[in-house]
Amino acid sequence: MSLAGKRIAVTGAFGTLGAAVVQAALHAGATVAAIDRADAPPAGVDLAGAHRFGGIDLAEAASAKNAIDAAVKELGGLDALVNIAGTFRWETLAEGKLETWDFLYRVNLRTAVAASQAALAHLREGGRIVNVGALSALKAGAGVGAYTASKSGVMRFTEALAEELKERDITVNAVLPSIIDTPPNRKDMPKADFGKWVKPRQLADVILFLLSDQAAAVTGALIPVVGRV
Ligand SMILES: NC(=O)c1ccc[n+]([C@@H]2O[C@H](COP(=O)([O-])OP(=O)(O)OC[C@H]3O[C@@H](n4cnc5c(N)ncnc54)[C@H](OP(=O)(O)O)[C@@H]3O)[C@@H](O)[C@H]2O)c1
Repeated sequence: MSLAGKRIAVTGAFGTLGAAVVQAALHAGATVAAIDRADAPPAGVDLAGAHRFGGIDLAEAASAKNAIDAAVKELGGLDALVNIAGTFRWETLAEGKLETWDFLYRVNLRTAVAASQAALAHLREGGRIVNVGALSALKAGAGVGAYTASKSGVMRFTEALAEELKERDITVNAVLPSIIDTPPNRKDMPKADFGKWVKPRQLADVILFLLSDQAAAVTGALIPVVGRV
């Protein structure tokens, strides 16, 4: 899959999936702006070759705009945005806090909306936005009300923006991962069969397809990427 000449901004780029997408996009020939709230990638995560923008809270509109504008300046334009910033909390309603709902809405949905609004000033015909929802948000289970509500928001946002941008020929899609094979998931679920989980690189490959010229006719899609879960 070639992304030669594409200028791509990736949020949550210092995390597990974000780093995999940055590395895969660089390998496919793109130039990449890696944006994250963390100041720098964790030890052992190699984002050499990417333009890095750390210490950015994308849930703040002004910060998101400054980061996207700075990325556009360094890349010389913008062809695509990948909204990966996000997080997870397990908490029952009976024992949980109302603030958790605000927190997950902020990190999972508001970041994607703010970054997308900032990117819209720069994306042109053929542009791409890819979001990350969650398979578990298709039907919630115990303890994931706040999380799945925020990820349902990402999915509805994806559909709405896809419709709004059809006339501009900009596609907007989302991937819905089941469980990604990440170090925190391995720690939290030590007895699980890790081989069934989605590898970050496998998810990155689906995202790369959605960014490519070959996916020009795909928009408003919510694509489950489940591995063998
Ligand atoms: N892991 C899974 O099994 C799974 C399953 C379904 C969906 N997903 C989704 O997939 C995406 C990536 O997951 P992951 O496991 O790779 O997560 P991760 O390693 O925690 O990476 C997420 C990154 O986003 C950053 N971030 C959080 N809030 C931000 C903000 N306000 N502004 C800018 N950056 C922010 C985090 O920075 P800090 O570390 O500083 O907070 C972190 O570097 C997330 O959207 C997640 O909800 C994951």
